[in-house]
Amino acid sequence: MKGELSREDSKRTFDAKAKEFDTNPVLLACVDAASRALRDGGLLQPGAAVLDFGCGTGLLALAVADSVGSVLGVDSSQGMVQFLRQKVEARGPGCNVRAACCEVTSPSSLHEANDPADPFPEQFDLIVSSLTFHHVEHIPDLLRLLVGHLKPGGRLAVFDYQKSAVSDQFHPHEMLHTVFHPAGFAQQELCAHFEGAGLADVSCRVVGEFEKPSGTKPPERMPYELLMALGTKPTQ
Ligand SMILES: C[S@@+](CC[C@H](N)C(=O)[O-])C[C@H]1O[C@@H](n2cnc3c(N)ncnc32)[C@H](O)[C@@H]1O
Repeated sequence: MKGELSREDSKRTFDAKAKEFDTNPVLLACVDAASRALRDGGLLQPGAAVLDFGCGTGLLALAVADSVGSVLGVDSSQGMVQFLRQKVEARGPGCNVRAACCEVTSPSSLHEANDPADPFPEQFDLIVSSLTFHHVEHIPDLLRLLVGHLKPGGRLAVFDYQKSAVSDQFHPHEMLHTVFHPAGFAQQELCAHFEGAGLADVSCRVVGEFEKPSGTKPPERMPYELLMALGTKPTQ
């Protein structure tokens, strides 16, 4: 069981990693595959309020922003959020992306991170998350919280790597303290979690393939697959 100390350590690790994120070929490949799957699936709608949970430096948030109404990126690492805010500022005043430093751990987390002087929405048409679920210990708890922030009829799209014979080599040793699901997820596992959280029309499929050096046996390269799990919050 990883405790309070380890969560702080994990945040510090992500703070330090933020400057490398935008040139990381694996993250870029995953964002590319994720934004293509969202677009091809008709999930990006004009006017939609979107939440990117565990947004990092906002690679996915910024990639989908032009196709939707607004995007709120939330991340527990202040370093990541600062990077995203700099990119938003560079895009100018018309940019529809905002960033909040928030560790989503309770139904009130997002509310507590909100800015009363300039509030962001707390209910969303679409919630996306890329390569973040494997960093969260209790997936059913997390899903319950995220579903609580979906409007009725809203969609949840989670991207993470598929469990395989080599997938536990995804992370290098120095990142393992940030990871609760080192082997990633099986399709049936994510579907069962989504259904358990009350989502309907649940599906899960591979939307991208990529290679990266093994975390435990570098420089050997290993193949990985990116999953998209999708579900809809029932309207009643
Ligand atoms: C591997 S990074 C992925 C970042 C981004 N989604 C991407 O694909 O580039 C995982 C991110 O999740 C964040 N994170 C992990 N647990 C979180 C939580 N409970 N609430 C908010 N952010 C979290 C970390 O700080 C980190 O930035």
